[in-house]
Formats: sequence, C-alpha cells, structure tokens
Amino acid sequence: MGCMKPLPTLLLGAAIAVGGPAVLATSSASSAADRLEPAVASMQEQEPSLEEAMTAMKKSLRKLRRGLPKDDVDMAAMVEHVLDAQAYAQISRLMQPHYAEKIPEAQRKTYLQEYRIMQLQMIQKMFDLEIALVKEDREAAQKVLAEVLAFEKAGHEKFNVE
Ligand code: HEM
Repeated sequence: MGCMKPLPTLLLGAAIAVGGPAVLATSSASSAADRLEPAVASMQEQEPSLEEAMTAMKKSLRKLRRGLPKDDVDMAAMVEHVLDAQAYAQISRLMQPHYAEKIPEAQRKTYLQEYRIMQLQMIQKMFDLEIALVKEDREAAQKVLAEVLAFEKAGHEKFNVE
C-alpha cells in the first residue's frame, strides 16, 4: 500500500484516461456540475461563459431589431444574425446560472429544469423568427422578434439576474 496515490490524483488520472470534461466533473463531489447530465457538465467547463453567450446573443438580436424595419435590409445578413442568436441560445440552455448556487438544494433541480425549459421556449421562437426570415416576411419577422426579446425580461426576473 506504500505506493498508493492520494485520492484526488487517482481520480484525475482516471478522468484523463477515460477523457472528457463530463468525467472530470464527477471527480469533485462538491461541484455543482456533477449533479447535471454530461452535456451540461461539459458546457459548464467551456468558453464562452453564460454571461458571454448572453451578451453575444443580445448583439445579434440588436442587429435584427435595427435592420428589420428597413425596406432595403439585407435579408441574408438577417438570417446570419438569427443563426448566431440561436447558436448562443443553444449554448446558454446547457449552462447553469450562477444564482443556482444560492437556491436551496431541495429546489435547485426544479430551478434548473425551469431555466432549461424557458431557454428552449425562446429557441422555439427563434426558429419561428428564422421561418419568417426565410420567407422574407419582414413584418412577421418583426412581430416574432418582439416575442423573442420579451424573453429577456421574463427570464431575468424569473432566474434572478441582477
Ligand atoms: C432576448 C433574450 C435575452 C437577452 C438579450 C439576454 C441578455 C443577457 C445579458 C446581456 C446578460 C449578461 C448580464 C446582464 O447584462 O444582465 C444576461 C445574463 C443572464 N441571463 Fe439573459 N438574456 C435573454 C434571455 C434570457 C432567458 C430566457 C433566460 C433564462 C431562461 C436568461 C437568463 C440569464 C441568466 C441566468 C443570466 C446571468 C448569467 C449567469 O448567471 O452567469 N436570459 N442575459
């Protein structure tokens, strides 16, 4: 037993041998990520952070908000912006808000489920927005964009964003 390595070293070795952040996440009993499914745990450890993804999503949505009212708007560029917004929302839905740490353990699962569901509902709206853009229907697109933008206030209120 003299050659027995300390437990953390062993766990890290095993994580590296099997590979993947999901495995690493399960090596620390106290981390929040180990209560999550592997895809979430993996996303949690990568760039961008949730805040960065949200900020990037906001920039893409702003370009849509400014562009869509214009008669001569480049619709192909608008489609690119909605694709970017969707991509950042896809990242965000697999992350967990910082505030989750402050939610008592007993309610945290529900908090995270509701967070994920609202993100998915927003992504559904972003697909409706893409449909309107593909149809080159600027009027419909502006209507759906307003519904997408309404998620900011609703999401931030519900999930305790300062
Ligand atoms: C149009 C929709 C949205 C926009 C433009 C947006 C934008 C942002 C921005 C810019 C931030 C960075 C911090 C700040 O400036 O307050 C942020 C943070 C955050 N947003 Fe959103 N957001 C949107 C929708 C949502 C939704 C639907 C949810 C929840 C389901 C959500 C949850 C959060 C959380 C939890 C943070 C804090 C980040 C953290 O805890 O690390 N947001 N958002």
